[in-house]
Amino acid sequence: MDRETVEKITKLKEEKDVVILAHYYVDGEVQEIADFVGDSYYLAKQATKVKQKNILFCGVTFMGESAKILNPDKKVYMADDTADCPMAHMADVDKIRQVREEYPDVAVICYVNSTAEIKAESDVCVTSSNALKIVKELPNEHIYFIPDYNLAHYISELVPEKKFIFNDGFCHVHKSIHSEDIEAAKNAHPEALVLAHPECTADTLKLADFIGSTSEIIDYATSSDCKEFIICTEMGVFFELMQKNPDKKFYSVGHRQFCPNMKKVRIEKVIEKLENMTDEVLLDDEIREKANAPLVRMLELAGK
Ligand code: 13P
Ligand code: SF4
Repeated sequence: MDRETVEKITKLKEEKDVVILAHYYVDGEVQEIADFVGDSYYLAKQATKVKQKNILFCGVTFMGESAKILNPDKKVYMADDTADCPMAHMADVDKIRQVREEYPDVAVICYVNSTAEIKAESDVCVTSSNALKIVKELPNEHIYFIPDYNLAHYISELVPEKKFIFNDGFCHVHKSIHSEDIEAAKNAHPEALVLAHPECTADTLKLADFIGSTSEIIDYATSSDCKEFIICTEMGVFFELMQKNPDKKFYSVGHRQFCPNMKKVRIEKVIEKLENMTDEVLLDDEIREKANAPLVRMLELAGK
Protein backbone atom coordinates (compact mmCIF):
# COMPACT_ATOMS: atom_id res chain seq x y z
CA MET A 1 0.00 0.00 0.00
CA ASP A 2 1.29 3.53 -0.74
CA ARG A 3 2.80 5.62 2.07
CA GLU A 4 0.27 8.40 1.66
CA THR A 5 -2.67 6.06 2.40
CA VAL A 6 -0.92 4.57 5.42
CA GLU A 7 -0.18 8.06 6.78
CA LYS A 8 -3.79 9.14 6.19
CA ILE A 9 -5.10 6.11 8.12
CA THR A 10 -2.59 6.61 10.97
CA LYS A 11 -3.59 10.28 11.30
CA LEU A 12 -7.31 9.50 11.31
CA LYS A 13 -6.83 6.76 13.93
CA GLU A 14 -4.98 9.15 16.23
CA GLU A 15 -7.37 12.06 15.73
CA LYS A 16 -10.44 9.90 16.41
CA ASP A 17 -8.88 7.64 19.06
CA VAL A 18 -9.58 4.44 17.11
CA VAL A 19 -7.99 1.00 17.25
CA ILE A 20 -8.46 -1.31 14.25
CA LEU A 21 -9.05 -5.02 14.85
CA ALA A 22 -9.06 -7.34 11.82
CA HIS A 23 -9.68 -11.03 11.22
CA TYR A 24 -7.30 -13.11 9.08
CA TYR A 25 -10.01 -13.59 6.43
CA VAL A 26 -10.20 -9.92 5.35
CA ASP A 27 -8.09 -8.56 2.46
CA GLY A 28 -4.32 -8.43 2.97
CA GLU A 29 -4.21 -4.65 2.64
CA VAL A 30 -6.73 -4.31 5.46
CA GLN A 31 -4.68 -6.70 7.62
CA GLU A 32 -1.64 -4.54 6.83
CA ILE A 33 -3.08 -1.36 8.37
CA ALA A 34 -4.82 -3.06 11.33
CA ASP A 35 -3.42 -2.66 14.85
CA PHE A 36 -4.28 -6.24 15.75
CA VAL A 37 -4.96 -9.17 13.42
CA GLY A 38 -5.98 -12.60 14.66
CA ASP A 39 -8.50 -15.40 15.00
CA SER A 40 -11.83 -14.79 16.67
CA TYR A 41 -10.61 -15.79 20.15
CA TYR A 42 -7.58 -13.48 19.99
CA LEU A 43 -9.72 -10.59 18.75
CA ALA A 44 -12.34 -11.04 21.50
CA LYS A 45 -9.56 -11.07 24.12
CA GLN A 46 -7.77 -8.12 22.53
CA ALA A 47 -10.97 -6.07 22.51
CA THR A 48 -10.96 -6.18 26.34
CA LYS A 49 -7.39 -4.85 26.52
CA VAL A 50 -7.25 -1.91 24.10
CA LYS A 51 -6.98 1.64 25.49
CA GLN A 52 -8.71 3.56 22.67
CA LYS A 53 -12.33 4.71 23.13
CA ASN A 54 -13.37 3.45 19.68
CA ILE A 55 -12.91 0.07 18.00
CA LEU A 56 -13.20 -0.26 14.23
CA PHE A 57 -13.87 -3.92 13.48
CA CYS A 58 -12.76 -5.42 10.17
CA GLY A 59 -14.66 -8.70 10.20
CA VAL A 60 -18.24 -9.92 10.36
CA THR A 61 -21.11 -8.81 12.62
CA PHE A 62 -20.74 -11.40 15.38
CA MET A 63 -17.14 -10.27 15.95
CA GLY A 64 -18.12 -6.61 16.35
CA GLU A 65 -21.02 -7.63 18.60
CA SER A 66 -18.70 -9.67 20.83
CA ALA A 67 -16.36 -6.67 21.14
CA LYS A 68 -19.32 -4.45 22.12
CA ILE A 69 -20.78 -7.00 24.56
CA LEU A 70 -17.44 -7.24 26.36
CA ASN A 71 -16.88 -3.46 26.27
CA PRO A 72 -20.16 -1.62 26.82
CA ASP A 73 -18.37 1.68 27.48
CA LYS A 74 -16.53 1.69 24.18
CA LYS A 75 -18.00 2.49 20.79
CA VAL A 76 -17.58 -0.31 18.26
CA TYR A 77 -17.96 0.37 14.52
CA MET A 78 -18.09 -2.13 11.65
CA ALA A 79 -15.96 -1.41 8.58
CA ASP A 80 -18.90 -2.89 6.63
CA ASP A 81 -22.10 -3.41 8.58
CA THR A 82 -23.55 -5.76 5.94
CA ALA A 83 -20.69 -8.25 6.41
CA ASP A 84 -22.57 -10.93 8.32
CA CYS A 85 -21.76 -14.61 8.88
CA PRO A 86 -24.77 -16.73 7.78
CA MET A 87 -23.90 -19.46 10.28
CA ALA A 88 -24.32 -16.98 13.16
CA HIS A 89 -28.10 -17.18 12.57
CA MET A 90 -28.35 -20.97 12.33
CA ALA A 91 -29.59 -21.70 15.84
CA ASP A 92 -33.01 -21.23 17.31
CA VAL A 93 -33.88 -19.73 20.71
CA ASP A 94 -37.06 -21.86 21.07
CA LYS A 95 -35.07 -25.02 20.31
CA ILE A 96 -32.49 -24.08 22.98
CA ARG A 97 -35.29 -23.70 25.55
CA GLN A 98 -36.80 -27.01 24.46
CA VAL A 99 -33.44 -28.82 24.83
CA ARG A 100 -33.02 -27.30 28.30
CA GLU A 101 -36.39 -28.75 29.34
CA GLU A 102 -35.57 -32.16 27.93
CA TYR A 103 -32.05 -32.37 29.45
CA PRO A 104 -31.99 -30.45 32.73
CA ASP A 105 -28.22 -30.95 33.16
CA VAL A 106 -27.37 -29.68 29.66
CA ALA A 107 -24.64 -27.09 28.99
CA VAL A 108 -25.56 -24.92 26.02
CA ILE A 109 -22.26 -24.23 24.29
CA CYS A 110 -22.35 -21.46 21.79
CA TYR A 111 -19.73 -21.15 19.09
CA VAL A 112 -18.77 -17.48 19.00
CA ASN A 113 -20.02 -17.39 15.38
CA SER A 114 -23.54 -16.60 16.64
CA THR A 115 -25.82 -13.59 17.12
CA ALA A 116 -26.00 -11.75 20.45
CA GLU A 117 -29.56 -13.14 20.91
CA ILE A 118 -28.29 -16.73 20.65
CA LYS A 119 -25.35 -16.02 22.99
CA ALA A 120 -27.83 -14.56 25.50
CA GLU A 121 -29.53 -17.99 25.77
CA SER A 122 -26.26 -19.90 26.21
CA ASP A 123 -24.11 -21.01 29.14
CA VAL A 124 -20.67 -20.54 27.64
CA CYS A 125 -19.17 -19.39 24.35
CA VAL A 126 -16.28 -21.12 22.60
CA THR A 127 -14.15 -20.53 19.54
CA SER A 128 -12.44 -23.14 17.39
CA SER A 129 -9.20 -22.61 19.35
CA ASN A 130 -10.64 -23.24 22.81
CA ALA A 131 -13.75 -25.44 22.28
CA LEU A 132 -12.01 -28.70 23.23
CA LYS A 133 -10.50 -27.26 26.42
CA ILE A 134 -13.80 -25.72 27.52
CA VAL A 135 -15.94 -28.80 26.77
CA LYS A 136 -13.51 -30.90 28.84
CA GLU A 137 -13.64 -28.40 31.75
CA LEU A 138 -17.44 -28.45 32.03
CA PRO A 139 -18.98 -30.86 34.55
CA ASN A 140 -22.16 -31.40 32.46
CA GLU A 141 -22.70 -34.73 30.75
CA HIS A 142 -25.01 -33.38 28.03
CA ILE A 143 -23.69 -30.74 25.65
CA TYR A 144 -25.92 -28.85 23.23
CA PHE A 145 -23.43 -27.37 20.80
CA ILE A 146 -24.74 -24.56 18.57
CA PRO A 147 -24.73 -23.45 15.76
CA ASP A 148 -21.98 -25.39 13.90
CA TYR A 149 -22.52 -29.12 13.33
CA ASN A 150 -19.03 -29.79 11.95
CA LEU A 151 -17.10 -28.23 14.84
CA ALA A 152 -19.47 -29.96 17.29
CA HIS A 153 -18.93 -33.32 15.61
CA TYR A 154 -15.15 -32.88 15.59
CA ILE A 155 -15.08 -32.02 19.32
CA SER A 156 -17.56 -34.80 20.22
CA GLU A 157 -15.17 -37.41 18.81
CA LEU A 158 -12.36 -36.09 21.02
CA VAL A 159 -14.53 -36.13 24.16
CA PRO A 160 -16.45 -39.44 23.91
CA GLU A 161 -17.46 -39.31 27.59
CA LYS A 162 -19.86 -36.41 26.86
CA LYS A 163 -23.28 -36.81 25.24
CA PHE A 164 -23.64 -34.30 22.43
CA ILE A 165 -26.90 -32.96 21.08
CA PHE A 166 -26.23 -31.58 17.62
CA ASN A 167 -27.58 -28.62 15.70
CA ASP A 168 -27.50 -28.44 11.91
CA GLY A 169 -25.68 -25.12 11.33
CA PHE A 170 -22.72 -24.96 8.96
CA CYS A 171 -20.25 -22.62 7.27
CA HIS A 172 -20.90 -22.65 3.52
CA VAL A 173 -17.26 -21.77 2.82
CA HIS A 174 -15.71 -24.66 4.75
CA LYS A 175 -18.47 -27.09 3.79
CA SER A 176 -17.64 -26.55 0.14
CA ILE A 177 -14.04 -27.74 0.58
CA HIS A 178 -14.54 -31.32 -0.63
CA SER A 179 -12.38 -34.35 0.12
CA GLU A 180 -11.92 -34.92 -3.66
CA ASP A 181 -10.33 -31.43 -3.92
CA ILE A 182 -7.90 -32.35 -1.18
CA GLU A 183 -7.08 -35.72 -2.78
CA ALA A 184 -6.32 -33.89 -6.03
CA ALA A 185 -4.13 -31.34 -4.22
CA LYS A 186 -2.30 -34.17 -2.41
CA ASN A 187 -1.64 -35.92 -5.74
CA ALA A 188 -0.27 -32.70 -7.19
CA HIS A 189 1.85 -31.93 -4.08
CA PRO A 190 2.70 -35.23 -2.40
CA GLU A 191 5.14 -33.63 0.07
CA ALA A 192 2.60 -31.13 1.40
CA LEU A 193 0.86 -31.39 4.78
CA VAL A 194 -2.90 -30.76 4.90
CA LEU A 195 -3.98 -28.11 7.44
CA ALA A 196 -7.72 -27.73 8.03
CA HIS A 197 -10.16 -25.62 10.03
CA PRO A 198 -12.62 -27.65 12.17
CA GLU A 199 -15.60 -26.06 10.39
CA CYS A 200 -14.76 -28.42 7.49
CA THR A 201 -16.78 -31.62 7.18
CA ALA A 202 -15.65 -34.91 8.77
CA ASP A 203 -14.69 -36.28 5.31
CA THR A 204 -12.28 -33.39 4.84
CA LEU A 205 -10.94 -33.49 8.39
CA LYS A 206 -10.11 -37.20 7.95
CA LEU A 207 -7.51 -36.17 5.36
CA ALA A 208 -5.94 -33.46 7.52
CA ASP A 209 -2.52 -33.70 9.16
CA PHE A 210 -3.42 -30.84 11.46
CA ILE A 211 -6.77 -29.33 12.53
CA GLY A 212 -6.98 -25.91 14.15
CA SER A 213 -8.29 -22.35 14.20
CA THR A 214 -6.95 -19.80 11.72
CA SER A 215 -4.19 -18.71 14.15
CA GLU A 216 -3.33 -22.30 14.97
CA ILE A 217 -3.00 -23.15 11.25
CA ILE A 218 -0.66 -20.17 10.76
CA ASP A 219 1.40 -21.08 13.86
CA TYR A 220 1.60 -24.74 12.84
CA ALA A 221 2.87 -23.93 9.33
CA THR A 222 5.33 -21.39 10.72
CA SER A 223 6.92 -23.72 13.25
CA SER A 224 6.85 -26.84 11.04
CA ASP A 225 9.97 -28.15 9.30
CA CYS A 226 7.81 -29.05 6.32
CA LYS A 227 8.02 -26.61 3.38
CA GLU A 228 4.66 -27.20 1.64
CA PHE A 229 1.10 -27.04 2.89
CA ILE A 230 -2.40 -27.55 1.51
CA ILE A 231 -4.61 -25.02 3.28
CA CYS A 232 -8.26 -25.90 4.00
CA THR A 233 -9.76 -22.67 5.23
CA GLU A 234 -10.65 -19.23 3.85
CA MET A 235 -8.01 -17.78 1.51
CA GLY A 236 -7.41 -14.64 3.65
CA VAL A 237 -4.95 -16.65 5.80
CA PHE A 238 -2.56 -16.89 2.83
CA PHE A 239 -1.51 -13.26 3.47
CA GLU A 240 -0.13 -13.93 6.97
CA LEU A 241 1.16 -17.39 5.99
CA MET A 242 3.24 -15.88 3.19
CA GLN A 243 4.40 -12.89 5.25
CA LYS A 244 5.69 -15.17 7.99
CA ASN A 245 7.01 -17.92 5.70
CA PRO A 246 8.40 -16.48 2.47
CA ASP A 247 10.43 -19.67 1.91
CA LYS A 248 7.42 -22.05 2.14
CA LYS A 249 4.71 -22.95 -0.37
CA PHE A 250 0.98 -22.84 0.32
CA TYR A 251 -1.62 -24.42 -1.95
CA SER A 252 -5.36 -23.81 -2.06
CA VAL A 253 -7.93 -26.49 -2.80
CA GLY A 254 -9.88 -24.61 -5.44
CA HIS A 255 -11.84 -21.44 -5.96
CA ARG A 256 -14.42 -21.90 -3.22
CA GLN A 257 -12.21 -20.86 -0.28
CA PHE A 258 -13.76 -17.42 -0.32
CA CYS A 259 -16.01 -15.89 2.35
CA PRO A 260 -18.07 -13.28 0.48
CA ASN A 261 -18.93 -11.47 3.71
CA MET A 262 -15.37 -11.13 4.99
CA LYS A 263 -14.37 -9.93 1.52
CA LYS A 264 -16.81 -7.00 1.74
CA VAL A 265 -14.34 -5.35 4.12
CA ARG A 266 -12.28 -3.27 1.70
CA ILE A 267 -9.62 -0.68 2.47
CA GLU A 268 -11.78 2.12 0.94
CA LYS A 269 -14.52 1.29 3.45
CA VAL A 270 -12.06 1.36 6.34
CA ILE A 271 -10.96 4.86 5.33
CA GLU A 272 -14.56 6.00 4.86
CA LYS A 273 -15.50 4.68 8.32
CA LEU A 274 -12.53 6.41 9.92
CA GLU A 275 -13.66 9.65 8.31
CA ASN A 276 -17.35 9.42 9.13
CA MET A 277 -17.55 7.06 12.13
CA THR A 278 -20.89 5.53 11.11
CA ASP A 279 -22.33 1.99 11.53
CA GLU A 280 -21.89 1.78 15.28
CA VAL A 281 -22.78 -1.61 16.80
CA LEU A 282 -25.83 -1.03 19.01
CA LEU A 283 -27.35 -3.73 21.20
CA ASP A 284 -30.36 -3.95 23.45
CA ASP A 285 -29.11 -3.59 27.08
CA GLU A 286 -30.83 -6.74 28.33
CA ILE A 287 -29.47 -8.89 25.48
CA ARG A 288 -26.01 -7.40 25.91
CA GLU A 289 -25.93 -8.16 29.63
CA LYS A 290 -27.18 -11.72 29.14
CA ALA A 291 -24.72 -12.35 26.28
CA ASN A 292 -21.81 -11.00 28.34
CA ALA A 293 -21.89 -13.88 30.85
CA PRO A 294 -21.09 -16.73 28.37
CA LEU A 295 -18.35 -14.64 26.73
CA VAL A 296 -16.74 -13.82 30.08
CA ARG A 297 -17.00 -17.48 31.08
CA MET A 298 -15.20 -18.41 27.85
CA LEU A 299 -12.35 -15.99 28.59
CA GLU A 300 -12.07 -17.40 32.14
CA LEU A 301 -12.17 -21.09 31.15
CA ALA A 302 -9.91 -20.69 28.11
CA GLY A 303 -7.35 -18.76 30.16
CA LYS A 304 -7.18 -21.37 32.97
P1 13P B 1 -11.38 -18.60 13.78
O1 13P B 1 -11.97 -18.69 15.14
O2 13P B 1 -10.44 -19.70 13.49
O3 13P B 1 -10.80 -17.26 13.57
O4 13P B 1 -12.54 -18.79 12.72
C1 13P B 1 -13.56 -17.86 12.56
C2 13P B 1 -14.37 -18.17 11.40
O5 13P B 1 -15.25 -17.44 11.03
C3 13P B 1 -14.11 -19.41 10.70
O6 13P B 1 -14.86 -19.49 9.56
FE1 SF4 C 1 -18.96 -17.32 8.68
FE2 SF4 C 1 -17.82 -19.20 7.24
FE3 SF4 C 1 -17.38 -16.66 6.63
FE4 SF4 C 1 -16.32 -17.76 8.86
S1 SF4 C 1 -15.86 -18.27 6.72
S2 SF4 C 1 -17.35 -15.78 8.70
S3 SF4 C 1 -18.00 -19.16 9.47
S4 SF4 C 1 -19.36 -17.75 6.51
